[in-house]
Amino acid sequence: MVSVRLLVLFLLSVSLLGSQPTQSSQQVSSPAHPAGEQSPLDPSSLSFPWSRLRLPRYIIPLHYHLFLHPNLTSLSFTGSVQIQIDVQNNTNWVVLHSKGLHISKATILDQNLVLPVLHNPSHEQIGIFSPRVLSSGQKYFLYIEFEAELAEGFYGFYKSTYRTSQGETRTLASTHFEPTSARMAFPCFDEPNFKANFSVRIRRSQEYISLSNMPVVKTVEVNGGLLEDQFAESVKMSTYLVAFVICDFKSVTGTTSSGVQVSIYAAPEKWQQTHYALEVAVKMLDFYEDYFNIRYPLPKQDLIAIPDFQSGAMENWGLTTYRETSLLFDPLTSSVSDKLWVTMVIGHELAHQWFGNLVTMEWWNDIWLNEGFARYMEYISVEATYPDLKVEEYLLHTCFAAVGLDSLNSSRPISSPAENPTQIKEMFDTVSYDKGACVLHMLRHFLTDEVFQSGIVRYLRKYSYKNAHNQDLWDSLANVRIKIILMYLFAGEHLDLTAMMNTWTLQKGIPLVTVTRKGPRLLFKLQHLHFSVDAPFYFYSFLWQIPLTYKTDVSGTIHRHLMTSPTDSIHIGEEASWVKVNTDMTGFYVVHYEESGWDVMTKLLRENYTALSYKDRTQLIHNAFQLVTAGHLPLNKALDLIGYLKRETHTVPLLKGLGYLEAFYHIIEKRDELDLTQNLGSHLDGGQELTRM
Ligand SMILES: *[C@@H]1O[C@H](CO)[C@@H](O)[C@H](O)[C@H]1NC(C)=O
Ligand SMILES: *[C@@H]1O[C@H](CO)[C@@H](O)[C@H](O)[C@H]1NC(C)=O
Ligand SMILES: *[C@@H]1O[C@H](CO)[C@@H](O)[C@H](O)[C@H]1NC(C)=O
Ligand SMILES: *[C@@H]1O[C@H](CO)[C@@H](O)[C@H](O)[C@H]1NC(C)=O
Ligand SMILES: *[C@@H]1O[C@H](CO)[C@@H](O)[C@H](O)[C@H]1NC(C)=O
Ligand SMILES: [Zn+2]
Repeated sequence: MVSVRLLVLFLLSVSLLGSQPTQSSQQVSSPAHPAGEQSPLDPSSLSFPWSRLRLPRYIIPLHYHLFLHPNLTSLSFTGSVQIQIDVQNNTNWVVLHSKGLHISKATILDQNLVLPVLHNPSHEQIGIFSPRVLSSGQKYFLYIEFEAELAEGFYGFYKSTYRTSQGETRTLASTHFEPTSARMAFPCFDEPNFKANFSVRIRRSQEYISLSNMPVVKTVEVNGGLLEDQFAESVKMSTYLVAFVICDFKSVTGTTSSGVQVSIYAAPEKWQQTHYALEVAVKMLDFYEDYFNIRYPLPKQDLIAIPDFQSGAMENWGLTTYRETSLLFDPLTSSVSDKLWVTMVIGHELAHQWFGNLVTMEWWNDIWLNEGFARYMEYISVEATYPDLKVEEYLLHTCFAAVGLDSLNSSRPISSPAENPTQIKEMFDTVSYDKGACVLHMLRHFLTDEVFQSGIVRYLRKYSYKNAHNQDLWDSLANVRIKIILMYLFAGEHLDLTAMMNTWTLQKGIPLVTVTRKGPRLLFKLQHLHFSVDAPFYFYSFLWQIPLTYKTDVSGTIHRHLMTSPTDSIHIGEEASWVKVNTDMTGFYVVHYEESGWDVMTKLLRENYTALSYKDRTQLIHNAFQLVTAGHLPLNKALDLIGYLKRETHTVPLLKGLGYLEAFYHIIEKRDELDLTQNLGSHLDGGQELTRM
């Protein structure tokens, strides 16, 4: 367990907790100011005390005093951090994250006793050895000085540049920490559930400004004419949400109805493109304070357009950062879709101020709790604040994209294990964002808007400034009032919300529900939609609990049925001439109408397509071609279905149908199947195929 040389140290009351020393990939850095005769420690006698990727749980950071002094000329920075830690088990070691930082000094307890710092670069960790035991139940101040170059690229504390119209290049420094890059800017406990308060100070020269999560409370002049901005202490938050920017930008400012100051920052020459973002941000914050029924807890929210930015935007608390195209809007040259994009991105990042920042997922495996929600809130917030932007059409496409990806075997469950930084970065994908949003859409539709909203408000209140698991969300949604409503909706059917939602978040793939009409009954059969037709039968089986919805021509209401077994049936009566399942594509499943089922749909569209909503029509087209691709439906049936399109008046189903037609045309053209090519054209003329019914 412990090496022989360490046994000597044990006599000095060393205790090592919960780990084996790692024998490989460790380096020992000599402190810059060796403690000399004060310290009996020879760093080479120590080995790294911790072997796991995740940090030990017995040292909890409470408060960071972070000081940074970047130099935009030398493109480097120096800094110090004083971290108040709560020690919960006796130990001689503090292990925390650091990546690419040169540590020049570390102390605990005694500022004059420079402690040995060990590095484990493969885990991006450092271990600081205290010869005196840090005792359980005590709080200590860990103090570290460090320096590094500003990072190249888009993560950590990195440099960015832009050119003025005079051709001059200007430099700024900005941060992007999510998921695991705060450790590139300062040593920290860089895991989402180590939440702490942050007090930041930044030293700068006069021609720049500095911004961070909180507003500046004081600026003092220090030696050499430099200025130092001191920011207010932050609320408790995760390290990945810390942010700072040093730049020469200009801003516009407004105030929300609850008094939050909102500013949009951009390079001076882009200043006139910031006004739309300001309008949106003020409106959105007002909307979310109302929707979540929780005040935005910071006094300000800055939105800044960074010239070099990897993702679309980042939700750092109080200082959201954006790619220029995600924030700036020029009324003269930008298009309506640019406007929708800017509005949605702001809606997304501001939703995170509650979902993600106030309540954070316990670990990155559940990043969908942040991203699926924020993506879904784009839709809810934009629909409420800018209804003419037609964001609901966008949601439909989002769910189609999620279906496309999730029907491939290479997909993954929404909640998936992720341990190292590469795996964690891979979690920021279509499954977390888009499938997450579509599954929430299904849930909201199933529970009703009011129940969904009151459930997430409860969740946000209960876990404010804390972390949550999937289960915590389901528990918040399934309260007594909801149970009564569900009993009413489902006529007493047993519903276990956790069991139902686990079938959507813990397994990959998309259900295929086959529907057959048998006189007064509708039969359902559950399969798994996948595209590789020649794949062998699955040795594992997929089961979902599906909140089915359907409409018939007999009544205008939406009917509901919770399908919990692989086969199921319901009574619908003889009189309905058609049944359309998955109303408005609110459910994340594909529907196959067996026997003459697709012909009934084709006939309905041909005779009176307005009997179905444009979303229903689009979904029928989408599902039919998915089934063709998966080998469940002959191409001719899908082509029959879109024969009505020449009368279609809504662009969404029209473009969807024409898109498939073009795609299949190219496939057929390549195969040189001339007969079929000619057939494709004739399908759109309509007429003859009806005779086959
Ligand atoms: C801390 O010590 C207690 C008992 O002394 C032990 O049960 C617990 O597992 C330890 N915690 C950690 C994180 O090592
Ligand atoms: C950056 O370094 C240069 C010299 O290399 C110095 O003149 C300047 O004052 C420094 N700026 C800051 C903000 O420290
Ligand atoms: C840390 O933040 C919490 C809210 O997140 C706040 O209640 C608390 O007062 C802050 N801590 C300190 C020491 O100010
Ligand atoms: C599908 O993916 C799983 C891993 O998720 C793999 O074990 C299986 O072999 C794959 N099946 C096919 C048919 O490729
Ligand atoms: C077409 O459907 C609409 C909506 O259901 C209905 O109001 C209308 O009467 C139908 N028209 C015909 C010709 O069936
Ligand atoms: Zn996001």
